[in-house]
Amino acid sequence: MTALLQVNNLTKQFGHDAKALSDVGFSVQEGEFVSIIGPSGAGKSTLLRCINRMVDATSGEIMFDGVNVLNLKKKELKKVRTKIGMIFQHYNLVNRLTVIENTLHGKLGCKSTLSGVLGLYNREEKEQAMHILGLLGLDDFIYKRADQLSGGQKQRVGISRALIQNPRMLLCDEPIASLDPNSAKVIMDYLKNISVNMGITVLVNLHQVDVALKYSDKIIGINGGQVVFIGAPKHMTRADIQRIYGSEAEDLIFDAGGIHAG
Ligand SMILES: Nc1ncnc2c1ncn2[C@@H]1O[C@H](COP(=O)(O)OP(=O)(O)O)[C@@H](O)[C@H]1O
Ligand SMILES: [Mg+2]
Repeated sequence: MTALLQVNNLTKQFGHDAKALSDVGFSVQEGEFVSIIGPSGAGKSTLLRCINRMVDATSGEIMFDGVNVLNLKKKELKKVRTKIGMIFQHYNLVNRLTVIENTLHGKLGCKSTLSGVLGLYNREEKEQAMHILGLLGLDDFIYKRADQLSGGQKQRVGISRALIQNPRMLLCDEPIASLDPNSAKVIMDYLKNISVNMGITVLVNLHQVDVALKYSDKIIGINGGQVVFIGAPKHMTRADIQRIYGSEAEDLIFDAGGIHAG
């Protein structure tokens, strides 16, 4: 089986600072649910941003669907980006626009500049948006303004906007970090459902080890820009958590409860 995403020797250095990512390597299979965990400043966001080229890597290789995204020119990059949906901690919605308008925004990357700027969407696109909003349980909110929604509802719009691109993969940067525990669970359940039932690969940055253990097929632990663990949740030991989180580890192990000693 070939991987949908294969990252090799990825390094990112901002200016003369210490490397934000150092020789990072891992692979992600189609449909896999993969969590990236680590403390603040570990390099999680930088890693996701390198994958869709919001940040330019210093060196290495990022093979996505058979092409090295680090080599792509503008036009090819735009095409690859339509296959990669982004989900953000702060949702990045346009507050004064409605739920369906925000969802349709996900189509912008696939449109000509003019029809994009004019906000022209055809009936088929609107129906697709309605369908996706239905899947995310937002039928009753379609014409509500984004700024009238709760955090959990906003994130469901964020997911809808990503899904309307028909992505192969979702990159989610701390999607639940601003949500209360109940809303966080709802969002994680939707993301898991999307991976299992739609076959869309999900790569999610998380701060919480307990959430990663519960939802992931595979966990990548990073600390100081380096991968210090790759494996299934059942293979993660206390020692691994300590390696990933350093001094923060004790609290996290307590939170995770069920983690086995090792
Ligand atoms: N645009 C940037 N310019 C300079 N340094 C940055 C930039 N973005 C991130 N960094 C640095 O890179 C390191 C990793 O940050 P980040 O990827 O945001 O970590 P995480 O998402 O795990 O909290 C940190 O030391 C951070 O200060
Ligand atoms: Mg981050």
